[in-house]
Amino acid sequence: MSGIVVVGSLNADLVVRTERFPKPGETLQGSDLAILPGGKSANQAVAAGRLGGAVRMIGAVGDDGNGTLLRESVASAHVDTTHVAVRQGVATGTAVITVDAAGENTIVISGGANATLTPEDLPASAFDGAGVLGLCLEVSIDVVLAAARAGRAAGATVLTNLSPFGAVPQELLDLTDVLLVNEHEAAELGDHGVARSIVTRGGAGCTVHDGDAGPVDVDAVRVEPVDTTGCGDAFMGAVALRLDAGDSLLEAARFAVGVGAYAATKPGAQASYPTAPELESFLRA
Ligand code: RIB
Ligand code: NA
Repeated sequence: MSGIVVVGSLNADLVVRTERFPKPGETLQGSDLAILPGGKSANQAVAAGRLGGAVRMIGAVGDDGNGTLLRESVASAHVDTTHVAVRQGVATGTAVITVDAAGENTIVISGGANATLTPEDLPASAFDGAGVLGLCLEVSIDVVLAAARAGRAAGATVLTNLSPFGAVPQELLDLTDVLLVNEHEAAELGDHGVARSIVTRGGAGCTVHDGDAGPVDVDAVRVEPVDTTGCGDAFMGAVALRLDAGDSLLEAARFAVGVGAYAATKPGAQASYPTAPELESFLRA
């Protein structure tokens, strides 16, 4: 079976660049506002889709301009949006983002339509033929669990990103085949018992744990970061793509560090993701 299903969030990213982050109570002058397509799940779907994967997205947007922006961005990456619902009278999810001169970010999300997604929005047919299912925690945990069950039932490899980090039910870990966490999430989670996992370390690469084989460090591709927003999502979309194509977890991670690095060199999340030829010339340079 092959094909990637991503269940979760779509956000309009409201981005302002500043020299440095404000302190509590402080006001800073920033750049012009940019409204860019984001949301961890939509980002993952677009990353895999732009690189040539067969991707289906399940989620919800509002009936506003931001919803149109998101649906167009996802569709332009050849992602099947049949199961992206449009909610009347509800705002599309948003993320208020500041990016500093070093390309680091702070993000506050407002759920909007993402918060209206329920297990009823996940028909079993939407998981037919899924090779990999991508999950994150920007929609309700009920939806995440229902999706993980449906993914398992369809025989998909369930790839779970525990971001934004919160309470993680044991059932989610039990239903997860591959866990994707950053080093902070890994520390918070502690012993998780998922045999296959990748711990990402931003500009320092990642560590792959695959069953009984010892942990293997994968070096990052070095870049001057412009905007690291959504680099982790690009990484995850790339891992999903390569797992779906039959790579080992280590092979998938080696490929994905290049995709994450490429995304760091351009502004925005989805707007910064490469096609396969773009990735190839970047890695050759
Ligand atoms: O991971 C980056 C993403 O987090 C942004 O695109 C923003 O929408 C938030 O979901
Ligand atoms: Na970027």
